[in-house]
Amino acid sequence: MLKNWTQTKKPAFDRQGAVQMNEIAQTIFAPIYPVIARQALDITGISRGLCLDIGSGPAMLAIAVARNAPEMDVVAVDFSDDSLAIATENIKNAHLEHRISARKGDVHHLPIDDGRANLIVSRGSMFFWKDLLEAFQEMYRVLAPGGAAYIGGGFGSLELREQVVAAMLKRDPTWDCSTRKKTDDEKIKRFKEMFREIGCNRHTIINNETGFWLVFFKEA
Ligand SMILES: C[S@@+](CC[C@H](N)C(=O)[O-])C[C@H]1O[C@@H](n2cnc3c(N)ncnc32)[C@H](O)[C@@H]1O
Repeated sequence: MLKNWTQTKKPAFDRQGAVQMNEIAQTIFAPIYPVIARQALDITGISRGLCLDIGSGPAMLAIAVARNAPEMDVVAVDFSDDSLAIATENIKNAHLEHRISARKGDVHHLPIDDGRANLIVSRGSMFFWKDLLEAFQEMYRVLAPGGAAYIGGGFGSLELREQVVAAMLKRDPTWDCSTRKKTDDEKIKRFKEMFREIGCNRHTIINNETGFWLVFFKEA
């Protein structure tokens, strides 16, 4: 059975991909990260303790979370050494080395102790994971009681989405950002079953102009 029902393609995640992601994140995508960070903080109601940004790439979301939640430290986790090197540079340039660290890790085997994370965020990475059940089980394991996660993809608002899509298509006319095929009703049903399987009773699926986001909470 398909272990990631949202996956549409398998990118290489090589050095060139990491450099390109950083280039886009620093320019065309730049305005989306503060918006998404604030949505994650507001919707989960968590703004203290430790936050993990999983599949952080250049760590722009990690940086936006740290800037919007002054009482939160952040670990940017990615399985790519190339992405981590770029993330480390971006964190340094943002003068946030004392609050954000970059750590190598795969979402399926996180290098984090049980119950350590108060908040987990992840944008644009889930669609590439090998096994969603395993990945969500692992994130649930590292969440602290009372903690929450905001996982998915999107651009934060309709206006930002239109702006990003227009700029990306100008750059690359073959660029495909369609989330519809990744998030149809059947796939949403699979996510609900998955939450049941991992024993998580409190969750919400957001599928609107802000993007597609799975929000889940661990009981206090
Ligand atoms: C499209 S990029 C998104 C980067 C960043 N979150 C952003 O929105 O700017 C996807 C990132 O997920 C990472 N990734 C993919 N699969 C992963 C896994 N199993 N564990 C950890 N990171 C992963 C890739 O290395 C890449 O940096």
